[in-house]
Amino acid sequence: MAEVVVVSDQEAAGDLAAHIILDTIRRRPEAVLGLATGSTPLSTYRRLAQQVKERSLDVSHVRGFALDEYVGLPHDHPESYRSVITRDVVVPVGLNPSQIHVPDGALAGIEHAGADYEGSIADAGGIDVQLLGIGTDGHIGFNEPGSSFASLTRVKTLSEQTRRDNARFFDDQDDVPMHCITQGLATILRAGHLVLLAFGEGKAEALAGAVEGPVSASNPGSAIQLHPRVTVIADEAAASALRHVEYYRYAYAHKPSWQGF
Ligand code: PGA
Repeated sequence: MAEVVVVSDQEAAGDLAAHIILDTIRRRPEAVLGLATGSTPLSTYRRLAQQVKERSLDVSHVRGFALDEYVGLPHDHPESYRSVITRDVVVPVGLNPSQIHVPDGALAGIEHAGADYEGSIADAGGIDVQLLGIGTDGHIGFNEPGSSFASLTRVKTLSEQTRRDNARFFDDQDDVPMHCITQGLATILRAGHLVLLAFGEGKAEALAGAVEGPVSASNPGSAIQLHPRVTVIADEAAASALRHVEYYRYAYAHKPSWQGF
């Protein structure tokens, strides 16, 4: 079962997620990070950048793989995930850009971009810690409802709900690309440790489905129940629909100090 940690706010969540990432880098300076985009991981990246600076940590060997990318947006479009990852993570944390990978959403070569990306992840030896957000429709990465648990990186069609949710990053909802290339659910499940963050009431139902609902392709987030090492970090609002929330609080409050994450 996932370890569920309920925190007071996004800053506290960012502290905890950054702690998990920093601990991984401390143990393995060439750690491979799975990087999420969207609003959810921003407090984690801010905290990570701050800690790296304060502790003068060497992150030059850290490698990274983004979860997903839009198909057909120019690489230098400000909302391409390549641009977002550069702006939100690579520059502030001081990662080596040549070691940070984003699926290639260019139309030319899109038919083999997924397999190429899987090859790059395998060459890196796999992802150590995968950060995840969750969509209001239950997606992780851009694996929309119906995605196979056996899926690898491939092109998907974004749901109308996701395009509506992401319209805030664009001038108009019609500007949100229709297609994306995303790590598959099986790709995500291969990572060593999943850290899923969720904030706000809008995520409550999706989070409850992921953590406690039936394991079903109709609810892609529920794939996390198949992974042996998952940390879910949620604020009170996102945790509000969890049936067993009192148990999660109790377990975390009594967590043995040797247990770690
Ligand atoms: P958000 O998106 O962080 O912008 O809410 C999460 C997701 O779609 O995975």
